[in-house]
Amino acid sequence: MSHPSTMRALVHSGAPGPDGLRVEQVARPEPGDDEVLLRVVAAGLNRHELFAIAGHTGDDLKIVGADAVGTVVSTGYDAGQELGGCRALVNPCLGWPDIENVPEVPTILGGPVQGTFAEFVRIPASNVHQVPPHLSDAEAAALPLAGLTAYRALVTKGKVRRGDHVVLTGATGGAGTLALAMAVALGAEVTVVTRHEAKAAEAISLGAAHVVVGVTDFDERLHAPADLVLDSVGSDSFPTAVRSVRPGGKIVSFGATTGPDVTLSLRDLFFRQISLEGTSMGSAGEFAAMLGFVAEHSITPTVHACRPLEEAPDAFRDMEAGRGVGKTVFVL
Ligand SMILES: NC(=O)c1ccc[n+]([C@@H]2O[C@H](COP(=O)([O-])OP(=O)(O)OC[C@H]3O[C@@H](n4cnc5c(N)ncnc54)[C@H](OP(=O)(O)O)[C@@H]3O)[C@@H](O)[C@H]2O)c1
Repeated sequence: MSHPSTMRALVHSGAPGPDGLRVEQVARPEPGDDEVLLRVVAAGLNRHELFAIAGHTGDDLKIVGADAVGTVVSTGYDAGQELGGCRALVNPCLGWPDIENVPEVPTILGGPVQGTFAEFVRIPASNVHQVPPHLSDAEAAALPLAGLTAYRALVTKGKVRRGDHVVLTGATGGAGTLALAMAVALGAEVTVVTRHEAKAAEAISLGAAHVVVGVTDFDERLHAPADLVLDSVGSDSFPTAVRSVRPGGKIVSFGATTGPDVTLSLRDLFFRQISLEGTSMGSAGEFAAMLGFVAEHSITPTVHACRPLEEAPDAFRDMEAGRGVGKTVFVL
């Protein structure tokens, strides 16, 4: 039980990676003038957090976590009074109001600022939204970062149209399962790429039309070239993505799970007239549009495990190893 001036939080320090994670009592934050304080009930785990602790050493306590759902328990002087007592989820992308003005690097909750794997988190009132009513707390906690990324990748960047053949790498992960659900809702025919035959049946049950096993050579097993490839696996998959797309097709890249470096022949791009797009997170308007899209199509994030914060080291290791389909959510 926390003292009113402290709270339980998952902190990281000392050893890099999951070995440096533990639950501790830390100071409870106070909302600034344009902020609210959210009592967190559930918080989804993203690979972003795994990267954030991979190289973190030293004594400063880092609280990671970008996704959260909870209740607004206090509000700042200037904003958010109408949110008091609301069941809310957070837009984890800070300071990107306008779709046209892309920031150099989007600021994400749990990056430079305190994250959500704690009993309380302070966030700008403009980043707080009502939860789509069809979602449970755990499902809502799995949505924000992955949903925003998948929505911008498919809609703003990918411009998916009904009937398009969309190939997804990393499709059984948190962002990938949401991209799968959204692409199906947009009327696409989706091929899922995975390393594990054992995940194929679940991908089909989530709406995939086809599953191919093998990240480095999936182009050889596609039933047809892709109109669009969404790639987040990175160096292991990107060269194959280039071979998989039809002439005039498009690749949208939003991640580098296996590393950021690739060697490409530019001839494969210009002779075949392939478009390359990069995307990361999204603007406030896209977040709101994503929530509307999710509500309209009753899209439900896939949650494969709900765990207490104390199990975070194992949960991070499971993610590292690619165990499970969908997301882990911490329940507080
Ligand atoms: N730029 C952004 O704004 C943004 C936002 C969200 C995510 N991302 C990036 O997108 C990627 C996916 O994020 P996520 O949170 O969805 O992660 P995740 O839940 O861990 O999913 C990653 C998926 O990648 C596949 N994978 C292929 N090769 C892998 C390997 N060697 N090791 C581990 N997994 C491998 C796995 O699928 P199989 O087991 O089926 O092969 C796994 O399900 C990460 O690189 C993340 O940083 C970027």
